[in-house]
This record gives sequence, structure tokens and C-alpha cells, in this order.
Amino acid sequence: MSSPAAPWSQVFQATDSVTGCSFPAPSDLPLLVAAEHAGLRPVSSCRNGTCRSCISHLTRGEVYYSVAWPGLSPDEKAAGFILPCVACAASDVTLRFGAWDAFD
Ligand code: FES
Repeated sequence: MSSPAAPWSQVFQATDSVTGCSFPAPSDLPLLVAAEHAGLRPVSSCRNGTCRSCISHLTRGEVYYSVAWPGLSPDEKAAGFILPCVACAASDVTLRFGAWDAFD
């Protein structure tokens, strides 16, 4: 997978809120790939922001998207849901991978 064009290059820290595992999150690398580089294995499928299998919940920080229309509604974005296969860190972040249970 090629990396999206980042508006800047910086390495932030990402933390998985379930395991407490922290890993480097370069601004030019999707959070999903950064997590995989750290040995985590979040659920994913399409890796292009359409299938939603990687949906996660951002509880701290900011992300930006490498695609214009990631498969999230405005309400889902406002509630903190992200698609880490196409979301890159724009600050230090804390997230919970695999947040499907949040829709129950
Ligand atoms: S893996 Fe399909 S939307 Fe992220």
C-alpha cells in the first residue's frame, strides 16, 4: 500500500486504549499500517476506506484522511469514529481498534 501524501512529515504517538500499547504514528502513514508495524493486528479488509471493517473510535487527538470521502457519516465522524486504514495521525492519538460494539 502506498502512503498518502501528508501535508507535513512528523511522527506522533498512538495508543491503543484497550491494550495500552503505544506505537509511532508517522503523519504520512495510515494508523492501521503504523499499528501493524508495531505488531498489532487490527481487523481490516479493503484498506481504502469503503468496507468499514476497520472502524475504530478516536478518544484523543486529531486525524486527517488520505481520501476525500472515507465511509463515515458526518454524525459518525462527530462521534469520534475513524477508519484507520485511511486516517493518519495529525497529533498524538488514543484510539480503540474494532469499535463495532459502539453501535449496539
Ligand atoms: S479496511 Fe475497509 S474501510 Fe478500513
